[in-house]
Amino acid sequence: MAQHTSLTLPCVLVLSFAFSVVLADVVEHSFYVEDNMIVNQLCSQQVITAVNGSLPGPTIAVREGDTLVVHVFNLSPYNLTIHWHGIFQYLSGWADGPAYVTQCPILPGNSYTYKFTITGQEGTLWWHAHVSMLRATVYGALVIYPTPGRSYPFTPPDDEFIILLGEWWNSNVIDVDEQGKLTGVGPNMSDAFTINGQPGDLYPCSSDSTYKINVVYGKTYLLRIINGALDDQLFFKIANHKMVVVAADAAYTTPYETDVVLLGPGQTTDVLMVADQSPGAYYMAARAYASAKSVPPPPFDNTTATAIITYVGAQSSSTPTMPVLPGFDDKDTAQRFHSSLTGLVNGPFWRPVPGPVDENMFVTVGLGLLPCANPGNIPCAIPGGLLRLTASMNNESFRLPTTLSILESHFNGVGGIYTDDFPDQPPVTFDYTNQQFSNLSVPANIAISMSRVSTKVKRLSYNSTVQIVLQNTALVGIESHPIHLHGYNFHILAQGFGNYDPVSDSSNFNLYNPQERNTIAVPAGGWAVIRFQANNPGAWIMHCHLDMHLEFGLATVFVVENGPTPETSLPPPPQDLPQC
Ligand code: C2O
Repeated sequence: MAQHTSLTLPCVLVLSFAFSVVLADVVEHSFYVEDNMIVNQLCSQQVITAVNGSLPGPTIAVREGDTLVVHVFNLSPYNLTIHWHGIFQYLSGWADGPAYVTQCPILPGNSYTYKFTITGQEGTLWWHAHVSMLRATVYGALVIYPTPGRSYPFTPPDDEFIILLGEWWNSNVIDVDEQGKLTGVGPNMSDAFTINGQPGDLYPCSSDSTYKINVVYGKTYLLRIINGALDDQLFFKIANHKMVVVAADAAYTTPYETDVVLLGPGQTTDVLMVADQSPGAYYMAARAYASAKSVPPPPFDNTTATAIITYVGAQSSSTPTMPVLPGFDDKDTAQRFHSSLTGLVNGPFWRPVPGPVDENMFVTVGLGLLPCANPGNIPCAIPGGLLRLTASMNNESFRLPTTLSILESHFNGVGGIYTDDFPDQPPVTFDYTNQQFSNLSVPANIAISMSRVSTKVKRLSYNSTVQIVLQNTALVGIESHPIHLHGYNFHILAQGFGNYDPVSDSSNFNLYNPQERNTIAVPAGGWAVIRFQANNPGAWIMHCHLDMHLEFGLATVFVVENGPTPETSLPPPPQDLPQC
């Protein structure tokens, strides 16, 4: 079914050395997406929607420069799209995948072929459904290896493993999603976290299927850790073992030694781990960093997923050692990890910080309230029943179009789908992070006035340099929002707690070796400054990667104009682009 043509042709390697040219391959996969996979998990049976009958779905392995072709057949009863999280999609925006942004969904019974070339990036990324909550089960890893003749900017590992973290519900996730809309407080929390699809020994009925890897004493392993969970940031730790971070979001970092890794949903972290402990068994464990603070505190899934590392030659009966994980609200550990990473200057695909800045934006990110407005006056679950949670950027709560994608509307000049007046600044200035606002009984008129439902995009001219201060608000509840930008990596120039101060904070920008990412966990009750160059024409959504916040409207879209030449212009859509 799946062909890894690029990794099975030794002649390609030989040729590329002989002529010192890079011979790229076409890597082709078929995704059959069906909702008939039966999973025994947590003492019950679930029928899930899955790709090629596996959870997680197939791992895609390519080399930088390859063209990836994925034929997606939607045999499920749901509308479907697939997004290739973190792939630049240079001039291939039609393949990006967010529903109603770059394409209409693939309707049940239909198919679409995603085709794009992967250039200018290598490392660990992933793919996932980008419509409703389907990504809970429709997701997998996407690994970009160096092109032949190039190597990692670190000692090559002896072996490598994908550690794909996920989130699991003991119910049909589309029903969970619908229920969440009705209650107005979002979907119920999950029943488990998973490592490569498995919850692990700390959950009932799971120990037989726990994910296990074997290591040899003295060897070095590359772990490609991905947070594919929907609604939780996750701490990840290995008992007794240090990790050295070498990349994040498929961008190399200065090696950073740590005993804990934190990943917002959507983020990836590559670490080297040396098997240097006494031969035995050790747990790897992941559990939530629950940064949300409000009155009353929001519920969260406080369970822990585990997998087991066993040394070859260890006694088979040895009980694994469990790591001590940070506290659920350990924001200092969170901030230490996130702010300690730096980019690997002059490493492969290192890009200097672009400048001067053409577009200066200040964007508030946070929650709000809207009238419940359920059909048949069904009350929402917020006390009083009259209000529902929402979320916004600069007070605009983003609603996706339903009849045409934003990219088609832009490309074909069809009006009435969106407006291009997304504001560069919030309409009202206030003490954004004042904890007093962090409660559900914040005056409804204030919270409602902070959330207007709209479909507003920001138009950018080709190659403009964009700087955005992302400012978390305390309204209804503060929380660390993992903000993801499609189509680009950005540099993270600075981050901190409280309200951003344009004078003192801008003097601390790291313009030398900032980390490059596609997803930033904006500190809870704080801010972060990102910068990117809009060199890729298309329509690129920027949104909170907490799945329920995307549905609440924590998003906007950048419509980036074509450049001056055909080589800098978006080609027309493929013939099979799905229609609404
Ligand atoms: Cu990983 Cu817009 O998504």
